[in-house]
Amino acid sequence: MPPTWPLVGRLAELELIEQVMARPSPAGVVLAGEAGVGKTRLAQEALDLARSRGLSTAWAAATHASASLPFGALTHLLPEDVRGPGRPALLRRVASALVARAGEDRLVLGIDDAHLLDEASAALVHHVAATGAAFPVVSVRTGEEATDAIVALWKNGLAERIEVHPLSRDEVETLVEAALEGPVEGPALHRLWQASAGNALFLRELVLSGMETNTLVREGRVWRWKGSMAPAPRLVEVVEARLGHLDPVDRQALELLALGEPLELDLLESVTSGEDVERLERRSLLTTSAGGRRASVRLAHPLYGEVIRARTAKASGRHIKKVLAEALEATGARRREDLLRVATWRLDSEGSGHPKLLMEAAGRAISYFDYPLAERLARGPRRQGAIMPQGAFWARRSLARGGSRKPTPCSAPCSPNQRPRRSGPTLRLIALAISSGDSGGPRPPRRWCSAP
Ligand SMILES: Nc1ncnc2c1ncn2[C@@H]1O[C@H](COP(=O)(O)OP(=O)(O)O)[C@@H](O)[C@H]1O
Ligand SMILES: [Mg+2]
Repeated sequence: MPPTWPLVGRLAELELIEQVMARPSPAGVVLAGEAGVGKTRLAQEALDLARSRGLSTAWAAATHASASLPFGALTHLLPEDVRGPGRPALLRRVASALVARAGEDRLVLGIDDAHLLDEASAALVHHVAATGAAFPVVSVRTGEEATDAIVALWKNGLAERIEVHPLSRDEVETLVEAALEGPVEGPALHRLWQASAGNALFLRELVLSGMETNTLVREGRVWRWKGSMAPAPRLVEVVEARLGHLDPVDRQALELLALGEPLELDLLESVTSGEDVERLERRSLLTTSAGGRRASVRLAHPLYGEVIRARTAKASGRHIKKVLAEALEATGARRREDLLRVATWRLDSEGSGHPKLLMEAAGRAISYFDYPLAERLARGPRRQGAIMPQGAFWARRSLARGGSRKPTPCSAPCSPNQRPRRSGPTLRLIALAISSGDSGGPRPPRRWCSAP
């Protein structure tokens, strides 16, 4: 069976995407549908189409792990130095660096699982769509909450929303025979159609588990279904059943991915082995991107991660993050994003980390304007109450430098055309600096206002 099944159907959707791409507005498409229906595949096909029309493309897929880091999903597309005196300036700078990748061409930017995007990445995607700087092809899972910046793409008409529907019965039958590279007997096709109801992932899981359990077998030229198939299993049950039969080594490799994906191939191999990774890839449980030693590894579908995380005990989850942090440190943790990855894994696993590491990471988070993360890192091991002395120092230093943007101090009540900032991150930082009881250094003004 080929690792990637040949594309079946989706001609109408691709035609529509091509039409939208050729028009000045809307400046993007949002592909919405249930888990497994075929959004990622359609987005990838849309990017292939764009490339065949001479456009440049870039691809980023958000994950559970990337969601907790600023620009987590897009980090591989961004320049080494991402800084700006304020959030809008940072966004503009990052956007122009992103778009510059395409040179003279228009950039078609694939963003998979945008409901998992971190706030900074979501703002960036919104920004490039709003300014027409790039054409985003965004996938979102229906029923999942996406950040406002993503919802606004279709709510504000910046992107055309396309519902991705399940495949038809004919398409399912064509797909099964193409995937199995041979004819399939009628009753087997009927069962697969009935159970999957046209959901491509469901179909794939049924075929893979059928082959693994010798229920779907080839007799002569024809594939037959031997034995029973539960009348109406749910997709998640089929995934659970397949993952339930893993041996401990395979399970641990998948747990590492469920909590840390995407992972660099060399990092994953350092805590498992090359053979383990290859075996899991052969079983279609994970995928490896091209790129040699810098290749990254992901689970074959986000649903696997959801099932695995739900089954992973809290204590094992903490242990896995410790393993990840140590493995990344052992590789040198040289990439820009590694500092925040190591620090958050350390904090999640041990509830602590080396103060210098946490402070550096907090500084990095504030340079991305991710104040909640900066605060979490600055608090370090003492989640409640005062922050570490270093945290107080850092909070005051960032205030002394003007923090994110220079707030306007005002002694009197705010004027009508100024609105007091709600208890925002900067105020929390001030509170942190004060609550530490450290009296040296600059003091923030009593009240901060921002222009409307
Ligand atoms: N139209 C299609 N033809 C062939 N295979 C498909 C098609 N749509 C999806 N698939 C395959 O089904 C699996 C699940 O699809 P995917 O795009 O990952 O779903 P989603 O992103 O909606 O969760 C993938 O292995 C994908 O390659
Ligand atoms: Mg997907």
